[in-house]
Amino acid sequence: MKLSDFGFTEGINEIIAITRGVSDAGELNAAPIGIIVEDASSRVARARLFPSHTKENVENGSPLWANICFDAVLFVISAFEDPGEEFYASLNPPVLKGAVVCCRFDVEMDGGTAKLELAEGTVIERPLRAVNRGFNAVIEATVHATRYAMGVKNLEEKIRYYGTIVEKCGGSREKEAYKLLLDYIRLK
Ligand SMILES: Cc1cc2nc3c(=O)[nH]c(=O)nc-3n(C[C@H](O)[C@H](O)[C@H](O)COP(=O)(O)O)c2cc1C
Repeated sequence: MKLSDFGFTEGINEIIAITRGVSDAGELNAAPIGIIVEDASSRVARARLFPSHTKENVENGSPLWANICFDAVLFVISAFEDPGEEFYASLNPPVLKGAVVCCRFDVEMDGGTAKLELAEGTVIERPLRAVNRGFNAVIEATVHATRYAMGVKNLEEKIRYYGTIVEKCGGSREKEAYKLLLDYIRLK
C-alpha cells in the first residue's frame, strides 16, 4: 500500500481532513488541509497545522481521515464550519458524500508539523475529470478567505480576482461555492 494508490502525488495535496473530538460524543471536525508528499511511492507524508480544531484533535490522539473530493461547496463549508451528519455517506469511517477516496492516517505531532502515516484507504470512485480552472479558483479563493477571516489584510482583491475566474470557468457548483464563500466572510 502506498500513497499513489489513493491518488496522492508529489507536492501538496489539498484534501478535506476529518478528525474526531475528544468528548464522549466524538464529534467529527472537517477542514481543508494540504498533505505534503515527497515520495508518493511511500506511506509517509506530513502537514503543517496551524492552531485549529484539527490540530487540537490530532494532538489528542485522533487519526486523520483524508477525504479526496472535487466538490467546491464542500471545501468552502468545511473551511468555515463543520458539515453536519447529513453531509456524510458514512460516519465510521468518516466519508463525506462525494468523496472519491478516504484514507486513514496515523498522526504524530512534532510542533506544528503532523507526521502522517497511511494506515488504510478506500477508493470509492475513480473520477474522470478534466481540469477546471473554476474549481481551482474556488480552492485558491478559499485559502485566502480563511486568512482574511483571521484578520489578514489586503486579500480582498485576490479573492475577487479568483471570483472572476470562477465566473468565467466554473460550473454551477463552483459559482454556488464562491457565493457561499463571500457570505462566510461578509464580502458583498
Ligand atoms: C485549500 C485549503 C488548504 C488549507 N491547508 C491548511 C493546512 O495545510 N494547514 C492548516 O493549518 N490550515 C489549512 N487551511 C486552513 C484551514 O482549513 C482553516 O483554518 C479551517 O478553518 C480549520 O478548521 P478547524 O478549526 O475546524 O480545524 C487550508 C484551507 C484551505 C481552503
